[in-house]
Amino acid sequence: MAVTNEVQLKVENIHMAFGGVQALLGVSFEVKKGEIFSIIGPNGAGKTVLLNCINGLYTPQKGKVSFEGEDISRLKPYQRAQWGISRTFQKLELFRGATVLDNIRLGRHIHMKSGLLSCSLYFGKTAREEIEHRDFIEREIIDLLEIEHIRHKVVGMLPYGLQKRVELARALALNPKVILLDEPLAGLNLEEVEDMARFILDINEEERWQTTCVLVEHDMGVVMDISHRVMALNFGEKIAEGTPPEVQKNPNVIKAYLGEAEDLYVTRR
Ligand SMILES: Nc1ncnc2c1ncn2[C@@H]1O[C@H](COP(=O)(O)OP(=O)(O)OP(=O)(O)O)[C@@H](O)[C@H]1O
Ligand SMILES: [Mg+2]
Repeated sequence: MAVTNEVQLKVENIHMAFGGVQALLGVSFEVKKGEIFSIIGPNGAGKTVLLNCINGLYTPQKGKVSFEGEDISRLKPYQRAQWGISRTFQKLELFRGATVLDNIRLGRHIHMKSGLLSCSLYFGKTAREEIEHRDFIEREIIDLLEIEHIRHKVVGMLPYGLQKRVELARALALNPKVILLDEPLAGLNLEEVEDMARFILDINEEERWQTTCVLVEHDMGVVMDISHRVMALNFGEKIAEGTPPEVQKNPNVIKAYLGEAEDLYVTRR
């Protein structure tokens, strides 16, 4: 998807503390519709907390989150999901005893909060259309992520790399406008990393999906390769923002990664 000038997600002056731990200290940024916007930073920098503030799992003490111009700061996570914000989790949020297909369906239902009661409100034509629409999305996700062969397999029995793919499938089942990805490459082998990076590009670029991506990742090679813009956090503060080459050579970023600095200079593919 071509990057537009339209601001889709706006985060303003977020402060989030847990007791004495100040996890975020006045973080602000904007994500444009169509972007792959990456957030990097050392362990404990506040990346996951920031995603939790965007999707409503955490309520920051201060600050505002807007989506397509509307203040969504007071909405619950399921309401933000209904608006089109979906996410994956650093620690997978899957039903390990259920099949891949059931996980995709359950994920959608839980986040949309459409349980038995609201399901029973659907009947006749509406119900049929809803089911057809759901089946259509499922089909597309399964094709996109190449998980046809495991769709009836129990998730807990799958290798970790495939579980990460199911986690992405679950998040896509909401047919999101923005997807927040928390370390989708962590723990994957080289081949799996390449596959996952391609899936993220497909979700962003393919006409069918055209999803804005907010990517939290430690794999600097992939981040610098696929992102339109990158923001760096350290100790809860924004220390840099810009294009991948700009952020790579930012002295604050190099200093924050001291000891890991060589990772920043992985050759772009
Ligand atoms: N629920 C919580 N209660 C208390 N402290 C928390 C909570 N969640 C996060 N923190 C603290 O907030 C800080 C930021 O944590 P966060 O998980 O956002 O880091 P991160 O940048 O995602 O790191 P990593 O790269 O290791 O995932 C850390 O000091 C962490 O211990
Ligand atoms: Mg994290």
